[in-house]
Amino acid sequence: MDAQQLRDAYIKFFEEKGHAHISSASLIPDNDPTVLFTTAGMHPLVPYLLGEKHPMGKRLVNYQRCIRTGDIDSVGDATHLTFFEMLGNWSIGDYFKKESIDYSFEFLTKILGFKKEQLAVTVFVGGEGISKDDYSAQQWKSHGLADEQIFYYGRKDNWWGPAGQTGPCGPDTEIFYDNGQPRCSENCGPSCHCGKYTEIWNNVFMEFFKGADKKYTPLKQKNVDTGMGLERVCCILQKVPSVYESSIFKPIISKIETICGKEYKEPYLRDIRIIADHVRAATFILADGVVPSKIGQGYILRRLIRRASRNMHNLGCRKLFMKEIAAVVIDEFGVSYPELIDNKENIFKNLVAEEEKFQKTLIKGLKKFDDMLVENGDSKVFRGDLVFKLFDTFGFPVELTAELAAEKGLFVDMCDFNNRFEMHQDKSRDSNSQIFKGGLIDQSEKTTKLHTATHLLNAALRNLIDKNIRQKGSNITAERLRFDFNFNRKLTTEELQKISDYVNSAIAKDIPVVCKEMPKDEAIAMGAIGVFDNKYEDIVKVYIIGDISMEFCGGPHVGHTGEIEGFKIIKEESSAAGIRRIKAIVGKYNIN
Ligand code: SER
Repeated sequence: MDAQQLRDAYIKFFEEKGHAHISSASLIPDNDPTVLFTTAGMHPLVPYLLGEKHPMGKRLVNYQRCIRTGDIDSVGDATHLTFFEMLGNWSIGDYFKKESIDYSFEFLTKILGFKKEQLAVTVFVGGEGISKDDYSAQQWKSHGLADEQIFYYGRKDNWWGPAGQTGPCGPDTEIFYDNGQPRCSENCGPSCHCGKYTEIWNNVFMEFFKGADKKYTPLKQKNVDTGMGLERVCCILQKVPSVYESSIFKPIISKIETICGKEYKEPYLRDIRIIADHVRAATFILADGVVPSKIGQGYILRRLIRRASRNMHNLGCRKLFMKEIAAVVIDEFGVSYPELIDNKENIFKNLVAEEEKFQKTLIKGLKKFDDMLVENGDSKVFRGDLVFKLFDTFGFPVELTAELAAEKGLFVDMCDFNNRFEMHQDKSRDSNSQIFKGGLIDQSEKTTKLHTATHLLNAALRNLIDKNIRQKGSNITAERLRFDFNFNRKLTTEELQKISDYVNSAIAKDIPVVCKEMPKDEAIAMGAIGVFDNKYEDIVKVYIIGDISMEFCGGPHVGHTGEIEGFKIIKEESSAAGIRRIKAIVGKYNIN
């Protein structure tokens, strides 16, 4: 079974069980200030897991594009990836443990053909006031799993979430594939890394909310959130040792082999895997509208492109290659992710520009690095001031210096580098770290106000400045909103004042903010705007603010605009070519 057949089989199976197919959300979380990328299928569903009504109902299924950057430095071995796909099914306050386990068992054994003896499961052993999950264990037994196939673990292994510091979470039951090899020791079990067990599916019973006070309170409703790793399951079904040998990566790796003239085998495995993973991830990130930059998602994108470029350089390739590989990615994944096709030209343009820029830096930096090795002398520690100089004067990424140093058996004095970096880069560091503060979704009053203010700002820009302005990005922290939009010049002080007056006058009028669910076509016909790309959803939510604004949105919003109290623009700047950025704050004393 290849990836496409697996996606189709999964969706069909759960549709037959009454689940609505929702499309994959963007990799860039909408209005979530605390994470850079969508890391799991549940991520865009948080408001619904917390109790909002989903327009498609209580049973949902999809395949979701995800990025996890925590292991970026481990990519190159046989198992780590930055970009991956997650198959997921959800019960939003509908079924719970029984059906969730029954469906998983049926899908794995009847549709994918696993024998029940090939499965092992883990369940929550209990603790901190939450009881042992005997119910799930019993349910697995009812399907014929023996006691030896059921393992009990604690919070470290059998509890999922919240993704940030606060948010929905709960105990889970994880499903593993057992490859049949003998246990490596008496203690061998699913948490062992000997290779006998591979995790394939995680069923989370999301019934708690972890608050800022670190306390767990029961959610309004009991939810199920499951996630199955598409790449891993493909590997097992195709009986290949790693994802890079599976049909998912075959076309990409063949292309890399052709371009560099090296075969996918030692000593080239690591370089080829990094290129394959990173170009695939970069292509998807670009498709979601991110451009390479110094901070946030743009910085991760830049790092992926640069690492891929450097590894191709290791393989002896000196030409620009990324566009050719991206074309293979678009061909292969465009059927499931049409945004790749829609944004093809933009993807190519940005990739080539960044690659060209980096090649120049690379060639210059490699030479400087050699000079600095001499300057560093015999020490096993590569001096922080040299690392900083390479970074600051020659634009050479510190990760790359660290990798090059490691190849020469040297450690980089990161402590010294960090001190220097912090002194010089206060500004960008602050905005980066901001992203990781707080919980997964801060549904506080303040962010709700900022969310509605964002709609008013969008309306002001379109009504006062240019009808063709569209949202190109939105990010809300506890302190401010940030809104990116297409416009190709700086806004004047007078224009900014007019925008601000417009929003403040809408606030003063205390207009009701009304949420309506309606057929998608009807909403479009009425002129509703917004980032709406879900081709499967027939019924959508539209937030209407008088005759000022009508936007597709998941919410939450204030009930009346008066609750925002005041609106003040604190910055207008360029975000990327043709994209401007406005930052604004709200509150009683914030009016300009
Ligand atoms: N949220 C869970 C996970 O990421 C299940 O999807 O594993």
